[in-house]
Amino acid sequence: MTLPNEDGVAAWLRYGELPASVRTAANSAAVDTIVVLGDHNGKSPVTVAGQELTDGFRNILGRTVTIVNNLSAASGTTIIIGTLSDYKATGQAVNNDASPFLSHEDGYWLDTTSDKHLVLGSNERAVLYGAFDYLSRLAQGTFSAFTFGSRPSAPIRWINQWDNMDGSIERGYGGKSLFFTDGRIVDNLERVRQYARLMASIGLNGIVINNVNANASLLGEDNLNNGVRRIADIMRPYGVRTGLALNFDAPRTLGGLETSDPLDAGVVKFWEDVTKRVYAAVPDLIGYTIKANSEGQPGPLSYGRTLAEGANMLAKPLEPYGGLVLYRAFVYDHHLSEADPKNDRANAAVDFFTHLDEQFAENVVVQIKFGPIDFQVREPPSPLLARLKKTRAAIEFMVAQEYMGQQSHAVYLAPEWQEILAFDMRVNGQQSLVRDILTTDKGPFTWSTTGYTAVVNVGNDSTWLGHHLAMANLYAYGRLAWRPSDDAKDILEDWIRLTFGVDPTVVSAISSLLMDSWPAYEGHSGNLGVQTLCDILYTHYGPSPASQDGNGWGQWTRADSQGIGMDRSVATGTGNAGQYHPEVATVWEDISKTPDNLLLWFHHVPYTHVLKSGKTVIQHFYDAHYEGAATVQTFPQRWASLKGKVDDARFEHIAFKLAYQAGHAIVWRDSVCRFYQTMSGIEDDQKRVNNHKWRIPLAAPSPNVVLVGYEPVAVRLPEAASDGKAVQTTGETGSVKTTLDVEDGTYDLAVNYFDTLVGRAKYELLLNDKSVGKWEGNLQDRLGHDFSEYLDGHSATRIYFRGVVLKKGDVLTIVGRAGGKEKAPLDYISVLPEGEVD
Ligand SMILES: *[C@@H]1O[C@H](CO)[C@@H](O)[C@H](O)[C@H]1NC(C)=O
Ligand SMILES: *[C@@H]1O[C@H](CO)[C@@H](O)[C@H](O)[C@H]1NC(C)=O
Ligand SMILES: *[C@@H]1O[C@H](CO)[C@@H](O)[C@H](O)[C@H]1NC(C)=O
Repeated sequence: MTLPNEDGVAAWLRYGELPASVRTAANSAAVDTIVVLGDHNGKSPVTVAGQELTDGFRNILGRTVTIVNNLSAASGTTIIIGTLSDYKATGQAVNNDASPFLSHEDGYWLDTTSDKHLVLGSNERAVLYGAFDYLSRLAQGTFSAFTFGSRPSAPIRWINQWDNMDGSIERGYGGKSLFFTDGRIVDNLERVRQYARLMASIGLNGIVINNVNANASLLGEDNLNNGVRRIADIMRPYGVRTGLALNFDAPRTLGGLETSDPLDAGVVKFWEDVTKRVYAAVPDLIGYTIKANSEGQPGPLSYGRTLAEGANMLAKPLEPYGGLVLYRAFVYDHHLSEADPKNDRANAAVDFFTHLDEQFAENVVVQIKFGPIDFQVREPPSPLLARLKKTRAAIEFMVAQEYMGQQSHAVYLAPEWQEILAFDMRVNGQQSLVRDILTTDKGPFTWSTTGYTAVVNVGNDSTWLGHHLAMANLYAYGRLAWRPSDDAKDILEDWIRLTFGVDPTVVSAISSLLMDSWPAYEGHSGNLGVQTLCDILYTHYGPSPASQDGNGWGQWTRADSQGIGMDRSVATGTGNAGQYHPEVATVWEDISKTPDNLLLWFHHVPYTHVLKSGKTVIQHFYDAHYEGAATVQTFPQRWASLKGKVDDARFEHIAFKLAYQAGHAIVWRDSVCRFYQTMSGIEDDQKRVNNHKWRIPLAAPSPNVVLVGYEPVAVRLPEAASDGKAVQTTGETGSVKTTLDVEDGTYDLAVNYFDTLVGRAKYELLLNDKSVGKWEGNLQDRLGHDFSEYLDGHSATRIYFRGVVLKKGDVLTIVGRAGGKEKAPLDYISVLPEGEVD
């Protein structure tokens, strides 16, 4: 039986039909009626919950369930859904065990132990959360007679969209904005509704719809009343409240004032008026998010005021409405001089915010990125998470994989987030897990408001994020914000069952692949806490270790011919270790105590420094890069084992991406290894670097490579190609020809080429003048990451032709045809005996 194709829009809420083999008596619970309690004008989360349950029963079990709105109209097995108060109004009482959940904001209670199943919530949206939990069990085939209560860890469980008013998305890799087009709000908000549904199903309750690099034109009358209002209206039935990112300079740019000084009476008045207008359109707005004095954005410091004065000025008009200001702690100087060994961007958040701890208004929440720099492949937790006592804080994660493969690579991020959340910050010498700090009723500070935000880049692609597997990150983010002690692997397996079905072979194959993906990505990108090593001066995508240093961005590695790493100790470095509480600081102050995986974050050491593992730093780099890339090489085969078990549409989409990822992992590995071998002058023990016995580089002068209409050309990042060079056509077409000196047998042919933004070249590979295959340099149409216009580590890619029978003396030819400005650039051909990784 072939499975029907799916496009991904329904994501983990597809309610796939449960196979008969896993339907137990309990999970095919013979529900006949759903009683929806209360009067909701057909528009509340309780109404939506009733509708979702009906849809779920129909799709998962093929069962028709009727909705009624009073208990005496119910017949047979019934699900009663409603708020606690509506339930009590029917004269019923709830079990004592339910109280801790039903007395807590957004908490819910499920009870399926009698023929009257209960889905009760402390408020309307909590009823919907309960219904989604009920359905999740039904869809996973794990439904039984049970009682279960749940309540979220924190009240702030938000998303930050980085959508621009013109319809583009900053760091968006899955199509155009669902919210904006051409400076206004889109007409058809159906995808926004579907997005709200996904958010509700994982307990998210707020969304800031526009980019933190904000355009004040959103506050214009038409955009507010005909746009933002409609967005809020469509999200409200899902319990998702809308918020706005503000531009601090709006008083000048939109209001026509001469200043945006937060203490200026005109400016104060401007924001009061704006807030009044915003609440007239959206009475339940959650508030504002601000990125100020950051990466060129205006802010209070520009007017000689403190960050607290800026935040409080915006918080004041929100107060009567119960709105919050989420003030981003991402304030730093991006023109920092690397010449000063005391300079350190990682110190910025604590330096800018700690002394203001007593000064922020009650409804200001400081929004802190999880690490001190910027969503790198590995960072310690931001020290600021444990330094604000009075001022409330929330953590910021990034579902958009800006530095993490940009959704062209499958990288499951929840294990990284989980490590951050489980880290013990030792405030006052007491256990202070980050996840407890971020909870209202635990931890050292017991803030009344705290929680979670994440940058999410859903776009109008049917996959939402450009890669079906990337959706595991969005799902896991919501789950962790709700209950941060959950295990990343358990969350993943729930997501897989909901997204791809309950077949255990499918679950274990996808689970093991994605659980391997973050370690593999760290392996082939940046090790030992040195950061991701992507090109931070350009696309933030492919490798460019050199780009980390020699500029003001402060993502330095301080690599030179002798050593590498940032000395962040108090004794001899930037003092950053001392921003942590003493028991943590002593570990990071001391090289011998710092764990290997953060060694280069906190210390500058010679390449020959011996790690706790017994390896030298440089040998660890080589080995980790080879192991990481080797793991990624297994992804396509592991995925191939699921053919027929996943519908063809999603199977092929993912197979294509994983094949691309495997090729690009080799680009990463080779670029980084070459770079540090050159810089350190220390060879890999195993002599793998720049020593590729199966490769035929096409730019190196060789009697065995004949170029016709092709010429060598330098690549932008020399480590991204063999000998720092590629070949490309001199005119419209050209060919490269090589005669093989191989033993007769079957081989995999890999061609490494460059696929840029500037055109779509065409290629054909021929064996003794017979075509082996053709391809086009059109990845910019098939992958969503930020593309490069140059020959470099972003554009370098690989295509395979597997199982080709070759004899000694065979001639391989690649014919290239320029497309636009892309002149069919090539790096090398690899002739790999089957099973060789290269
Ligand atoms: C509840 O349903 C019963 C049976 O259908 C009906 O007689 C009764 O009027 C309903 N009560 C209310 C309050 O709608
Ligand atoms: C803000 O949006 C308006 C309307 O689309 C546009 O004209 C303007 O260029 C945008 N400003 C910036 C700084 O992007
Ligand atoms: C996404 O938006 C683009 C640009 O507006 C449009 O051309 C395309 O059809 C949209 N795709 C979907 C799936 O809605």
